[in-house]
Amino acid sequence: MKTLVVYYSQSGNARWMAERISSALSADMLRLVPKKAYPEKGFRKYFFGGGSAVIKEAPALEPYKVDLMQYEQIVFVTPVWAGTVTPPLRTFIQSEHLEGKKFAFAACSLGGSAEKTFAALRSLLGAADDVPTLWLVEPKRKQKPENEKAIEAFCGKLIENGE
Ligand SMILES: Cc1cc2nc3c(=O)[nH]c(=O)nc-3n(C[C@H](O)[C@H](O)[C@H](O)COP(=O)(O)O)c2cc1C
Repeated sequence: MKTLVVYYSQSGNARWMAERISSALSADMLRLVPKKAYPEKGFRKYFFGGGSAVIKEAPALEPYKVDLMQYEQIVFVTPVWAGTVTPPLRTFIQSEHLEGKKFAFAACSLGGSAEKTFAALRSLLGAADDVPTLWLVEPKRKQKPENEKAIEAFCGKLIENGE
């Protein structure tokens, strides 16, 4: 099953996850980049990014090229922002026709649960409750064997789903 991994990452953790998942699945990757970058430091980072997530903003994205017809499965990878999905993923989902695709979600956080993030993604996509999910805490910074096992189990499930 041909898979596309779509991700937004500000400081590299979600990108690390996206790379690991795409390499395990031999999948293509699409990085979402907002036209106006979110602040990366200090109070402004949490204020503007968190605020944008809370008000469910869908920021304009830098143009990207992707032929979604090619893919049967899409894995969305996002950091948790203010308990929910990052705005660039919202823009992508609202702009594209994704009917008939299989989905899976992966999220990283500083420790806060990703359940609401996954629920927001399910709701945006109209996806079923049993979409496979993977949640890791700061995976790029805190590499550990449990994370490797979790990534392996997640990717194994996606491969099985495609057979
Ligand atoms: C604006 C903003 C809001 C965040 N909100 C949360 C949160 O609600 N819960 C949490 O555990 N971590 C939160 N974080 C931390 C990130 O989810 C975490 O550092 C993640 O690994 C960053 O991924 P990245 O390196 O791909 O950008 C927030 C970070 C930012 C910048």
